[in-house]
Amino acid sequence: MSKNIVVVTGSPRANGNSDILVFASPIYWYGLSSQIKALIDRMFAGCVKPYPITSIALLITFGDIDTNVAAPAISHFQAISHYMDWENIGIITQEGVKEAGEIRGKKSLKDAVDLGAGIL
Ligand SMILES: Cc1cc2nc3c(=O)[nH]c(=O)nc-3n(C[C@H](O)[C@H](O)[C@H](O)COP(=O)(O)O)c2cc1C
Repeated sequence: MSKNIVVVTGSPRANGNSDILVFASPIYWYGLSSQIKALIDRMFAGCVKPYPITSIALLITFGDIDTNVAAPAISHFQAISHYMDWENIGIITQEGVKEAGEIRGKKSLKDAVDLGAGIL
């Protein structure tokens, strides 16, 4: 059976029919962007009336070449996954990207495609 996937990049397009949520965010000040955080805050309603979400994934980019920069955001994501009992199906990070298009040709892009292909 096919799955409904919503990739969230900042606008709250998530709807009540999603099986899998993919959070896509740049790292801002060692954390997820405020746009994604705002969406996560609004999803607290799901604690009362659960969404049909079963799984979540995280795609993050950041400018630094030190991969530890992503650790606080990954820890945050893992805590949400645990608390909401949503299976973490993948975390893909890409360091060293600052400008639009810089990610082209990087392995993380192929990893993201493979993650999506593995779901469908
Ligand atoms: C407000 C702001 C905060 C940032 N903080 C970090 C940071 O803590 N660590 C880092 O490596 N890059 C940081 N960056 C760089 C971004 O992660 C990087 O440029 C990203 O690819 C930008 O994505 P965007 O074009 O979607 O904003 C920051 C950029 C902005 C605009």
